[in-house]
Amino acid sequence: MAAYLVDDTRKVTTHRLMEMKQQGKKIAMLTSYDYSMAQIVDQAGIDIILVGDSASNVMAGNQTTLPITIDQMIYHSCSVSRAVKRALVVCDMPFGSYQVNATEGVTNAIRIMKESGCDAVKLEGGEEIIDTIRTILNAGIPVMGHLGLTPQSINKFGTYAVRAKEEAEAEKLVRDAKLLAEAGCFAIVLEKIPAALTRRVCNEVNIPIIGIGGGPADGQVLVVHDMLGMNKGFSPKFLRRYADLFTTITDAVGQYVSDVKTGDFPNAEECY
Ligand code: KIV
Repeated sequence: MAAYLVDDTRKVTTHRLMEMKQQGKKIAMLTSYDYSMAQIVDQAGIDIILVGDSASNVMAGNQTTLPITIDQMIYHSCSVSRAVKRALVVCDMPFGSYQVNATEGVTNAIRIMKESGCDAVKLEGGEEIIDTIRTILNAGIPVMGHLGLTPQSINKFGTYAVRAKEEAEAEKLVRDAKLLAEAGCFAIVLEKIPAALTRRVCNEVNIPIIGIGGGPADGQVLVVHDMLGMNKGFSPKFLRRYADLFTTITDAVGQYVSDVKTGDFPNAEECY
């Protein structure tokens, strides 16, 4: 199987991601939530697999990421970790698992690391959770930050519109990004912010910046089901679809239904 553009099969580490930023090599990241998809995504040469709390939407059909639990994130992360040989696997800490205080945050991060087999955790937020992030880092757990549109705060924002268009919010985002980098985070996801602001953060912060709906950055992340075209309903401007699996799967299932009902399947060669 082709590992597109990637001839280096060594395990991706946080250290190597930093080298990639320094060498100007782009970082490719996608979500996965199960063994079968993670195996394909890993073999195709992805650098980071995020077991995103978007599993709440994509796998469970919830409206937001808020309902997913630590147990459910650990279940998804275990399935992904079992499949992955090369990519760095990051598990989202779900809503409610780190917002109360640093002690609860580090306790839950340790549990995720012990039980899920993932390589790192991701938390949403800046200054408000910096003590928790420092405590998790002090426990030896690599942390990826997430700023801009942070879906766990959707009820506070009230909208999934582009964030940090106003100067005050943009300046806070830059301060937060610097704070996360100084604390020791190995990378930051910037979601749905103006491209000029992403460019500024990439230039002023010395850790990899991974964009989603934020224009060019040190790397990009998409939800794998979205970029494979597995749902018709979600079409934001930033999403590039690389396949139309909704149509491919619908056609295949429709053909199977027809073959079963007409008696065409199974035929003589498909019998013992
Ligand atoms: O949960 C997720 O899929 C994410 C990405 C959108 C970055 O956090």
